[in-house]
Amino acid sequence: MRALPSTGPWRGGVVAGALLAAVAAPGAAGAVSPRAVHTLTRVTPAGPASVLLSSTADAAVVATRARAARCARRAPVVLTVRVDGAAVGQVRLHSSRWRALRFHGPVGPGDHRVRVTATGRRGCAAATLDELRLTPATQPGDDEGHATPRGPLRAIPVNAAARAELALGSDQRLQDTFLSHFDGLTPENEMKMGIVEPSPGTFAFRQADALVDYAQRHGKSVRGHTLIWQSQLPGWLTRRRWSRADMLAVMHQWIGAIVGRYRGRIADWDVLNELFDAAGDWRPSPWYVAIGPDLADAALRAAHDADPAARLFINDFDIERPGPKQDAVFALVRDLRLRGVPIDGVGIQAHWSIGDLVPEQMLLTTLRRFASLGVRVELTELDVMTDHQPDALLRQAAAYAMAGRVCQAVAACDRVTVWGISDRDSWRGAANRALLFDTDFLEKPAYAALRDALAAT
Ligand code: G3I
Repeated sequence: MRALPSTGPWRGGVVAGALLAAVAAPGAAGAVSPRAVHTLTRVTPAGPASVLLSSTADAAVVATRARAARCARRAPVVLTVRVDGAAVGQVRLHSSRWRALRFHGPVGPGDHRVRVTATGRRGCAAATLDELRLTPATQPGDDEGHATPRGPLRAIPVNAAARAELALGSDQRLQDTFLSHFDGLTPENEMKMGIVEPSPGTFAFRQADALVDYAQRHGKSVRGHTLIWQSQLPGWLTRRRWSRADMLAVMHQWIGAIVGRYRGRIADWDVLNELFDAAGDWRPSPWYVAIGPDLADAALRAAHDADPAARLFINDFDIERPGPKQDAVFALVRDLRLRGVPIDGVGIQAHWSIGDLVPEQMLLTTLRRFASLGVRVELTELDVMTDHQPDALLRQAAAYAMAGRVCQAVAACDRVTVWGISDRDSWRGAANRALLFDTDFLEKPAYAALRDALAAT
């Protein structure tokens, strides 16, 4: 965990449950000039923190650091953040070590009342807050062509893939780790067709609903994953050959049902997953065999019809390096954009291995290449398998930091998702130690490394 510097402009002394004094932020460039608070304040049930912040931009992120007060009973304190009366996030603090926290809007231009309250067991419900502020959110394409990011760094959210157990089970360590350290979730399997549509036209949303409800209850975002893929399909779909017309009808019903169900609640969908093989040729999925290449148009238009506000992604692995597969994704997205088919982003899955990392400059070039099409670029399934050298976890941390730096350098990159919460549940297997928390849910060096790279400055 990154330590708070012992000196600096934010070392203002502790104010007991008081109104924070707003001060002007050091000159933020462009259309955004948020005011920030660099001070320390103590929050208790009787004394919430409340501050007026302003932004001239359309969107912003409330960022703060916090630590729980020392408490003999080691009970957590829960901080709830409201912007203009609406809850935007909640976090559970367990320790008196400083933690970086981020809460997302909705925050538009103008003045905003940000209020932070603390709840918890008697005698333990106190925390200290630092650096409460609005951070400018940038638009896709802002910094294309520049080697380093311009202006202040953004606070870029970190999500994690999560399984239904998170919402339906009672594993406190799993829940605490997710709630305290991640900004949102992607259902790892629970929105795949094999689970959701077990027989034609019959839908089983229990697990997906549970994850969406859980995320929303706790102020976390959800990425929808995934609509058109060749894996985890129901048997009724894979067991027979389909005519083009029948398969298009199946696709419309499937996409309409799931995207429509979460209309307005899920802002981003992986619509097209792993369309191409390593040579850049279309994979012979049941979708492709029946419909052909315009399955991309049909799926994107169906998703757009079901939720016109949702951002629609194509998502794939092994596209970090130049080559036929990257070219195939690039060409498809360019073609879709030119023809006005709704496509908003490219997801680079980023399943990596410590011994075979993509060079930083190459990854940067790749993100910029996709961003040049005017779409968002996200790292959607990041994990880094380690080896068994003594310094493996430090080299892993360096790899995660590199991923964060590259995302930070490209304005179109506005989120990083890691593929699981802890090594205990990683699809890579616990022995490969690919994630940010170990099998006992202890934080690994990679967590702070990634967060630091994605933090606002
Ligand atoms: O649902 C059955 C359950 O009934 C059974 O008891 C259990 C026994 O092993 O298996 C369960 O199914 C497993 C499923 O995950 C749900 O947990 C499958 O065996 C297992 O193969 C499946 O793995 C998932 C994999 O996609 C399927 O290809 C991984 O959890 C999931 O992390 C992985 O995610 C994919 C992304 O969606 C797309 N990109 C690649 C990524 C990694 O493969």
